Amino acid sequence: MRICIINGSPNRNGNTAEVLKPFRQRLAELGADLDEIFLKDYDVAPCLGCYACQDVQGEYGCVQKDDAEEIWRRAGQADLLVLATPIYSWYCTAHMKALLDRHYASNKYYGTAEGQLIPKLSVALLTTHGYKADYANEPFETGIKRLCRHCHWDYLGLYSVRDIDGLTDMQTPEAIEGAERFAEELVEKMNVSRETL
Ligand SMILES: Cc1cc2nc3c(=O)[nH]c(=O)nc-3n(C[C@H](O)[C@H](O)[C@H](O)COP(=O)(O)O)c2cc1C
Repeated sequence: MRICIINGSPNRNGNTAEVLKPFRQRLAELGADLDEIFLKDYDVAPCLGCYACQDVQGEYGCVQKDDAEEIWRRAGQADLLVLATPIYSWYCTAHMKALLDRHYASNKYYGTAEGQLIPKLSVALLTTHGYKADYANEPFETGIKRLCRHCHWDYLGLYSVRDIDGLTDMQTPEAIEGAERFAEELVEKMNVSRETL
């Protein structure tokens, strides 16, 4: 099982990276083949809204020659895409939002081209946030659920940890066990969906 984890935090050693440690380790123990992307290391510009990609058949076709195409190609090669991000202003970080908008070139819905470059994908969320979980996560989770529906992808769920006191909140037994359990749940869901294919 290939799993692509994209960390949209600007902090390489921040809270989100800390929660990813036990999550990644458990996935590896369960035999997952991991591809990890620390988004800030890549060049992903915001979408220009030019719609040129919508007239390019069978290819990504974006006029901006940065790293978005490579990242979406790697995500599309995975069975499961994990979007990990701190909650910023009730959504993901700007780094991740730019990448999400650039999924557009993969869906040929609005021009002369047709089809989807990533017809099948499962998506899960891992977030960290300052406010209480439901209040902090609801807008972003709703947006991603709708994006998945729009793309005909499966949404598998969310795990999050609240930041009150920084890294130590991410290192409690509850936070670590929660991340490990979430990894187990995702692998289980992926196995069930494979068996029912
Ligand atoms: C610019 C900015 C905006 C934020 N907006 C929110 C927010 O809307 N809701 C929330 O619960 N926390 C918010 N936070 C808190 C972060 O989500 C939280 O501290 C997170 O754990 C940081 O993760 P990191 O260390 O990986 O960057 C915000 C933090 C920053 C810096």
